[in-house]
Amino acid sequence: MSSSVDAALPAPAPAATEALRPAIHYTARDTWLNDPNGLVYWGGQYHLFYQNNPHGNVWGNMSWGHATSRDLLHWTEHPVAIACDEAEDIFSGSVVVDYGNTSGFGTPEEPALVAVYTSAFKAGSGYAGTQAQSLAYSTDSGMTWTKHAANPVLTRNSPHFRDPKVFRYEGEAGSYWVMAAVEAQEQQVLFYKSHDLKAWDFLSAFGARHLQPGRPGAGEWECPDLFPLPVDGDPAAVKWVLIVNVNPGGVAGGSGGQYFVGEFDGVRFRSDAPVEEPSWLDWGRDCYASVSFSNVPDGRRIIIGWMNNWDYANALPTHPWRSSMTLARELRLTTRDGSVRLVQQPVLPAPGGERPTAAPGRVPGGPFELHGPGVPLPDAVPGQAQVIEAEILPGPAGQVVFHLLGTEDGSGGTVLSYDAAEGQLVLDRRTSGYTGFHPEFPSVEAAPLVLEDGLLTLLIVVDHCSVEVFAQGGEVVLTDLVFPGPESVRNRLASTGGPATVRALTITSLS
Ligand code: FRU
Repeated sequence: MSSSVDAALPAPAPAATEALRPAIHYTARDTWLNDPNGLVYWGGQYHLFYQNNPHGNVWGNMSWGHATSRDLLHWTEHPVAIACDEAEDIFSGSVVVDYGNTSGFGTPEEPALVAVYTSAFKAGSGYAGTQAQSLAYSTDSGMTWTKHAANPVLTRNSPHFRDPKVFRYEGEAGSYWVMAAVEAQEQQVLFYKSHDLKAWDFLSAFGARHLQPGRPGAGEWECPDLFPLPVDGDPAAVKWVLIVNVNPGGVAGGSGGQYFVGEFDGVRFRSDAPVEEPSWLDWGRDCYASVSFSNVPDGRRIIIGWMNNWDYANALPTHPWRSSMTLARELRLTTRDGSVRLVQQPVLPAPGGERPTAAPGRVPGGPFELHGPGVPLPDAVPGQAQVIEAEILPGPAGQVVFHLLGTEDGSGGTVLSYDAAEGQLVLDRRTSGYTGFHPEFPSVEAAPLVLEDGLLTLLIVVDHCSVEVFAQGGEVVLTDLVFPGPESVRNRLASTGGPATVRALTITSLS
């Protein structure tokens, strides 16, 4: 690891880091952000609330920032929604539309938005040192919020009880609100039930109670989410998905997102797989605290994650903004080899329309044979994100290699390769640019990937300081931050160990 640290670019000057700001990923204008909070679709807009330090660009003063978007790609930042004060920091949570006015905060005709968040209580608050669940409501479409007078509404006198995700359960057991929250250090998700969002009764727990350190998932459990999805598009075959973010103990080290597929009967979640054998939302280093939107039409389930890792989050070399969200990703469940798995597709504009194709003549298109150093791909352009879509037959022994954001002389860059013999998709950012800001940053991530009929399908989104890879229709996802120098704009597709066949290749840019 040390050699790549030595080879790293020098730290960019603060002014230069504006060039690293992503085009289609959300960043706060000039402050710090972490977890997405209170994701809700309301009034034709997607609302993204998020952990925000309104006064700085490292973690602290936790408050809920706020942004809205109509397409999940272009965001407008609004004033802080719920601010910390002398009694509490405002930790992660969720927002629901209270259609039945069960809380009495709105009216049946004009339902309130209700935020259920964690109060991280400070000295002198009466609950000093504990984390408990509290409410705030908005009757102006999320622009201003009033804290409930009788907060907190749910406490266990615990210092680590947090991250409530609330949804409306309608099923055989009845019709009520369900909250999933974590007892973080005990690796437990706790479920509660309420009829008015104010009085909560314990339902059940799902978890591992102190997994052995070093096991996957053996860190603090944070930011849970539970939702139903049809399997293979069949509305009669519904399964439930429990997302549990974990830090440390993620599959690529540090922060990561695990998920379990199973059943929820209104009281208890039962996972099909043992709790010690989670599935992973993302095999990269930088996708954490993923949770889903509520109230999205047509039953679509869309998540956003925080594109960062607590291992080095506070040290990212950008200024004054620090940190971004992942792209929004739509989830589906699919059956593969007898087990049910999540697939993720990034939300992007439909081809055509808003989505111009890259300069004609520069994109090979396909089909063609790929040999050795391969073919140059269009350069990265400031202010634009690139979407690379490829269908490749790697051949039995070879490696297909994308060199992304490399330099003119072909050196450096972020290297995404598929190794047919190993059956692995590998993302290597050791020579991606400025990596020396933290010893944990230079890294290589690998995800197991078995080809179907020998075909590799990739959708890669490259956006200034990130590479997000959706392979095999979104069954395998890898997300890594990278901080390339200003000259690192070259992309190339190559093969080693034998020729490969490129069946299709499309590159589009989005600004
Ligand atoms: C996850 C997390 C949450 C907590 C929040 C505080 O990244 O640690 O558990 O609510 O961040 O900012």
